[in-house]
Amino acid sequence: MQFQWYPGHMTKAKRQMQEDIKLVDLVVELVDARVPLGSRNPDIDELGRNKARLILLNKADLADEKANEAWMHYFEKRGYYAVRIDARNRGGMKAVQAVILEACKEKMERDRKRGIKNRPVRAMVVGIPNVGKSTFINTFAGKACAKTGNKPGVTKGKQWIRLNKNVELLDTPGILWPKFEDQSVGLKLALIGSIKDEILNIDELALELLRYLLKQYPSLLKERYEITEVDEVKALEQIAVNRKCLKKGNELDYSKAAALVLDEFRAGKIGRITLEKPEQEA
Ligand code: G4P
Repeated sequence: MQFQWYPGHMTKAKRQMQEDIKLVDLVVELVDARVPLGSRNPDIDELGRNKARLILLNKADLADEKANEAWMHYFEKRGYYAVRIDARNRGGMKAVQAVILEACKEKMERDRKRGIKNRPVRAMVVGIPNVGKSTFINTFAGKACAKTGNKPGVTKGKQWIRLNKNVELLDTPGILWPKFEDQSVGLKLALIGSIKDEILNIDELALELLRYLLKQYPSLLKERYEITEVDEVKALEQIAVNRKCLKKGNELDYSKAAALVLDEFRAGKIGRITLEKPEQEA
């Protein structure tokens, strides 16, 4: 499968982010909990050098809880703060507040020693498209938060959202693009819907998903679709039969069954599933 990004766009967004990162103490990086490594752009480690780093495993509600736990440890072991959240339902937000302060503890202490009082910690949100950056900012900031507007010494036009007396958040997130040489990463991003379906082969995607689920989550698959098969092609056929995916003349419609499986997976209807596990990435 081939994927196409837009280099002009990407260069501009990256340049903007380089400028914005200079203004903050903390980089809050959102990843998709179902594909925590594949949904990162490795450039962020370079861009966020010398800043406190927090990784939010968002959409944790859709991911396997055991894997969420394992990924938290994975990132913590590598020097990041990590929290799993469900930005859409406010899940994990309280923990985020606390961890932001914890992550910026040293900076606050430095300020205090220099006699700087009440300077809030500044943070910005970054991540690849569709990981939930806007949802997070809206949920986290809430409607009650006032925008602080321009401030002396800050690039004109920057809007900061004051979360409380300790923390300010840049109101526009930094967009990074996924980066991968490995097609299997592209595949996982396509499965979670980060890459537009129009450029992909739906049947092929669904078969890849079924192959993975038959191996990693067979009971979820069995429960949802009453599958007895262990082969992905036969499993898709069985789904087409059970869900009455038919063309004119009662012929089985595999593409319809494929689209159904993908939709249900993305909506979390098959169950909580993680496509990438730390032990497999090691
Ligand atoms: P972005 O700014 O990073 O591009 O992402 P955005 O906030 O637009 O979120 C992308 C999609 O992910 C949205 O769904 C949003 O509702 C969903 N989303 C964000 N956070 C979570 C989460 O923690 N859990 C779940 N399950 N979904 C989340 P959408 O289909 O584009 O819109 P809609 O379904 O909200 O209408």
